[in-house]
Amino acid sequence: MIWPMAQTPPDVNGLSIGILGGTGDQGKGLARRFSIAGHTVLIGGRNAERAASVAAEIGLDGSDNATVAAQADIVIVAVPWEGHKATLESLRAELAGKIVIDCVNPLGFDAKGSYALAVEEGSAAEQAAAVLPDSRVVGAFHHVSAVLLLDPAVDSVDLDVLVLGDDREATDTVQALADRIPGMRGVYGGRLRNAHQVEALTANLISINRRYKAHAGFRVTDI
Ligand SMILES: NC(=O)c1ccc[n+]([C@@H]2O[C@H](COP(=O)([O-])OP(=O)(O)OC[C@H]3O[C@@H](n4cnc5c(N)ncnc54)[C@H](OP(=O)(O)O)[C@@H]3O)[C@@H](O)[C@H]2O)c1
Repeated sequence: MIWPMAQTPPDVNGLSIGILGGTGDQGKGLARRFSIAGHTVLIGGRNAERAASVAAEIGLDGSDNATVAAQADIVIVAVPWEGHKATLESLRAELAGKIVIDCVNPLGFDAKGSYALAVEEGSAAEQAAAVLPDSRVVGAFHHVSAVLLLDPAVDSVDLDVLVLGDDREATDTVQALADRIPGMRGVYGGRLRNAHQVEALTANLISINRRYKAHAGFRVTDI
C-alpha cells in the first residue's frame, strides 16, 4: 500500500504526456510504457522531423519540443543534463501551469565510473523549478532503466519510483502515473530540496549495475 489510508489516488486516465528529448532511450522507453498504459504520448526533440520519425518507430507521434510542451497535459523532461537549463528556459511559456516531471540526473563520468555533479540550484529538479516559476515541477523516474523500459520481453518494471515535489496534488498525480506501469510503485519521496540525493543516488545504481551486470532498481520497504 503506497497511498496513506483513506486517500483515493487521483484519476490520471486520459492525461496526455509529452516528452522533451523523447528521442533518446529514456524518453522513448517511458513513452512506450505510458502508451501501452493507454495514454496519448507525444515525443519531442529539437528537430520536428527527426522526432516524428523516431516516434513512428514505436507507433507514436512526434514533433519539436515546443509543440509537444504546448500540446501535452503533462510534460516529462528527458534531455541530457548539459541541455537541461537552456531547454527549459526556451519553453517557459509553453510549460506554464503544467506539471513538469524532471528525471534528469546531473552526473559526470570518468575512468572510475559515474559521480554526482554539484548543481548551483541544488539539483536538476530545483533548477527546473527556478527556471519555470509558473510550472508545477516534480522529480521522478530517476532510477528507471531505459533498457528495461524498451525491452519488449520485460512485462513488469519492478521498482519504486521516488516522487519529489512541493505541490502535493502534483506529486499525487505523478505517483498515480508511475502506478500505471506494471511493476512500478510511485512513492512520495519528499520535497524538491531533497531531490539532490535522489538524483545523485543514480551514480550508486550505475556502480551496482556494472558490478552485478544488472538493471537494478530500488524498493522502499514497509509501505
Ligand atoms: N538512460 C537511462 O537509463 C536514464 C535513466 C534515468 C534517467 N535518465 C535521465 O534521462 C535523461 C535522458 O537520458 P537519455 O539516456 O535518453 O539521453 P540522450 O539519449 O543522451 O538524450 C535524449 C535526447 O535529448 C536530446 N538532446 C541531446 N542533447 C541535447 C541538448 N544539449 N539540449 C537539448 N536536447 C538535447 C536528443 O534529442 P534530439 O536530438 O531529438 O533533440 C536526445 O535524443 C538524462 O538526463 C538522464 O540523466 C536516463
